[in-house]
Amino acid sequence: MGDRFNTVAGWALFGGIIALGGAIVSSKYFDSERPETMGYAIEGVEAEGEGAASGPSLNTLLASADVAAGEKVFAKCAACHTVNQGGANGIGPNLWATVGEPIGQGKGGFAFSDALKSKGGAWSFENLDHWLTSPREFAPGTKMTFAGLGNPADRANLIAWMNTQGSNLPLPAADAAPAAEGDNQAEAGNAANAAAPAENAANASE
Ligand code: HEC
Repeated sequence: MGDRFNTVAGWALFGGIIALGGAIVSSKYFDSERPETMGYAIEGVEAEGEGAASGPSLNTLLASADVAAGEKVFAKCAACHTVNQGGANGIGPNLWATVGEPIGQGKGGFAFSDALKSKGGAWSFENLDHWLTSPREFAPGTKMTFAGLGNPADRANLIAWMNTQGSNLPLPAADAAPAAEGDNQAEAGNAANAAAPAENAANASE
């Protein structure tokens, strides 16, 4: 009787441990599942800036940018940057005529990080959009300690306004349709492109 009771109690305990273990494992599973899902959603937002089919493209946003709204967005930058011609460097470099200028070279001897200095190329609307989405992702090790602007329209308005501060490069034309973004030549047969042949010609010559 005693033995039998012990055996039953033993199995009950064993079963309990298994159940508990299962609960821990499943809670771990769900814990780690959650951030993965959230991380995925955030990546989706970033992909938008690269011309994902969701939401208007950078070109489309720039073509209808609200320059005055962009100037207001610059309030988030003004703690570290001046933008007037010949303005002083602060925590960050003066940004007069930065659109179109070589990346990380600046004016007035600002000490750029190696991360930005070694990036190469010039500031375009597109790479400014990437930079302002996440400076850290664009140039890992940058000393611009600014998290980034999550709203694509804010970035486009700001970039359009910065362009008026000494650069004045022509703004791109709006894309015909989200589906027409990226490689226009590869999609030359689709209806959106057929509907806007002039725009395609302009894009194809880029
Ligand atoms: C906390 C201070 C700070 C804020 C806020 C900030 N920046 Fe910067 N920014 C910097 C620093 C520092 C650098 C130099 C980065 C490096 O050398 O890695 C920089 C560099 C830049 C550059 C590169 C300039 C060049 O000549 O290559 C651009 C463009 C820029 N910032 C734009 C902005 C804009 C637009 C905003 C607002 C949305 C902003 N920054 C907000 C500190 C800041």
